[in-house]
Amino acid sequence: MKIWVASEDIADGLAGLPGLDIAVYDGRGPVPAGIGEVEVWVPPLVPVRDVPGLLAGMTGLRLLQTVTAGVDPYLPHLPGHVTLCNARGVHDAGTAEWAVGAMIAVLRDFPEFGAAQQRGAWSWHYTGVLADSTVLIVGYGSIGEALERRLSGFEVEIVRVARNARPGVHGQDELPDLLPTADVVVLLVPATADTAGMVDAGFLARMKDGAVLVNAARGSVLDTDALLAELQKERLRAALDVTAPEPLPPDHPLWTAPGVFITPHVAGSTPASIRRTRTLVCEQIARYISGEPLENIITGHY
Ligand code: GLV
Repeated sequence: MKIWVASEDIADGLAGLPGLDIAVYDGRGPVPAGIGEVEVWVPPLVPVRDVPGLLAGMTGLRLLQTVTAGVDPYLPHLPGHVTLCNARGVHDAGTAEWAVGAMIAVLRDFPEFGAAQQRGAWSWHYTGVLADSTVLIVGYGSIGEALERRLSGFEVEIVRVARNARPGVHGQDELPDLLPTADVVVLLVPATADTAGMVDAGFLARMKDGAVLVNAARGSVLDTDALLAELQKERLRAALDVTAPEPLPPDHPLWTAPGVFITPHVAGSTPASIRRTRTLVCEQIARYISGEPLENIITGHY
């Protein structure tokens, strides 16, 4: 069985499994030979440039196992007979940790202090703080749970929102009433047709003066121009690990907008994610080979 995997590390992990013809394709080097015989594809963390083109050549594909929680680059282009599985869980720790660090960085003015340090300037001033604030988690799934666990020592109130209400979790339809109560709003929703542009001018307008928007979801969820307008007024602040477009071009106005802290989609790019990805992929391929039920199959809404 021919399998293309994202890294040498995953290839090493699979080496003990029987009957595999493994090629590493990390999206940067040349496309390996034999695309038509690929049965399983584990694409790289940063999507290859031409996903539809590559998928069109994979006429024998049966399973696409991502190394990301998000499957948005693949879902619209996959034929119905190909099983799509995500890497639910492997980036929970890294992403939740990034979100805590990013909200504290913005609230405690770390980017400004970093810039002042470069100038040798002792820029004493009061800052904001996380303690006593309300953190609204929009898209409460496994990353949201990991974030809540990490925030449990920070003396904050957590408000949870998911697509549909369930015990302890508000439904998305309640957002208009919840947004004005939050000091920090963390976006963790998947990129789908439903969430495209959901954080628009109206959403942002309902956020409290001085609140912080944290985007660890996808750039497509957020209307960048609407956020820019709020940042220029210095009414909101933001921490963004994801942007639209990505990479953000060097001359994009978001880079220099007041009150924004930007990282280049690195929340899940950590040694913990690499270790957990290898384990998840190897266990999943072992299941595939032995005909056991697969985990994290994406169906319908995800
Ligand atoms: C990272 O962006 C992921 O989707 O896991």
